[in-house]
Amino acid sequence: MSGIAPAQSDSEGLVFPPQFLWGVSTSAHQVEGHTLNNQWWAWESAGRIKSGDCCGPACDWWKNAERDFDLARGLGLNALRLSVEWSRIEPRPGEWDESALQRYRAILQALLNRGIRPFVTLHHFTHPLWFEHAGGFLSPHSADLFERFTARVLAALGDLCNDWVTINEPNVYCAMAYALGEFPPGQAGNVGAALRALGSMARAHARAYRVIHRFRPEANVGWAQNFLVFKPAGAGLDPIIAWLQHKLFNESFVQMISSGRVAFPLSRLVGDLSEVRGTSDFVGLNVYSRFHVCFDRTNPRQFYGRMFVPAEAPQGDHGVELPYGEAHPQAVTAAIEAVRRLNKPIYILENGVPDASDRIRPWLMVNSLKETQQAIARGADVRGYFHWSLTDNFEWSEGWGLRFGLYALDEKTQKRTIRPSGQLYAQIVNGNALPRELVERYAGVPRNRNLEPGN
Ligand code: BGC
Repeated sequence: MSGIAPAQSDSEGLVFPPQFLWGVSTSAHQVEGHTLNNQWWAWESAGRIKSGDCCGPACDWWKNAERDFDLARGLGLNALRLSVEWSRIEPRPGEWDESALQRYRAILQALLNRGIRPFVTLHHFTHPLWFEHAGGFLSPHSADLFERFTARVLAALGDLCNDWVTINEPNVYCAMAYALGEFPPGQAGNVGAALRALGSMARAHARAYRVIHRFRPEANVGWAQNFLVFKPAGAGLDPIIAWLQHKLFNESFVQMISSGRVAFPLSRLVGDLSEVRGTSDFVGLNVYSRFHVCFDRTNPRQFYGRMFVPAEAPQGDHGVELPYGEAHPQAVTAAIEAVRRLNKPIYILENGVPDASDRIRPWLMVNSLKETQQAIARGADVRGYFHWSLTDNFEWSEGWGLRFGLYALDEKTQKRTIRPSGQLYAQIVNGNALPRELVERYAGVPRNRNLEPGN
């Protein structure tokens, strides 16, 4: 382990290293409001959100992110992850909106003024409509275009931020956009396109990695990897399908970045990755849940697996159609262990649960942090934990239906109300430790209220 002093436990509780980063994560489209020029605004306006919702003013950050930065400071946070919206900065190919860049300068400065270290993501699921119409990450020019965008962002904002996340969850984006069809452009069952886009995103990431270092040699650059636990439901083919899904979903992008290669037959689809090898200073992990997997010959879209959550498993609130996944704090350990061999610092860049009434969020938070602290105590170089999210925000294809905030948001009035889990997070953050009393209070797995009538 390098970098920071190890975590300790004492009679008072589980203590985190002194420079540990305590943050929250957000993304531009989900909080800024009126991101009129990206593919998600078009998707929502075309009625593609199952609930019919649109993000509208979202959390009003374009006008007043500072209000929420005050809340973050009030919780005692020392880090905050946000993203810049490519469609605002480059509304037409090669045309730069200086006023948008100025607004982002003010936003980053506002964080620094409050003693909060910004982590900036360059691509968090959204991009300009013109990029989407040109084929998005299936276009052979996508890495060039992303590199040009990154250079402009670094020229304008590079002095205000040292920590950069190139791309958020390439695995989720490609699966949702091309295999499951839940994200624009809404293609279902096109696994070949999903893998080609994944290869392009790896090259775009590598270009951005080098550009960021050109502008700011000391920068700390990585990406955010979504990690799911796939648990075989039974015997027979279930373990093989679960292993295959784990390899594809959790490991393929990690392998591209670490070795510049990916196993056959994927290598036939993703193209040349030689420029990608070794392009990360850290690994960001977004960890939420576990799915149970069984063999299902009728489901080629998910490699003949069916993912489900057993009724008794603790879950957040239900989405519009599907359960969100089993809330599973041990997923944090599984994710950390899966990337430790890269020998890079690790940040938990997202962890949370959709839970409007805070019935399981405190349990999930305490136990995810316990898993994190114990991994550090065993020698893992985990340098920060970012909860998803500060306030409720626009949850992609689930619209306003799922509530992830430490603060409840009334999106009509923009009123924010702290949830008990927000107060709990502040207590942990301000002590830089998980008090033993909390560990004991949340030791049992909560009963799944979704089983009760009316839920
Ligand atoms: C994404 C966020 C999203 C969160 C909760 C993550 O996969 O990066 O944008 O809101 O999950 O679903």
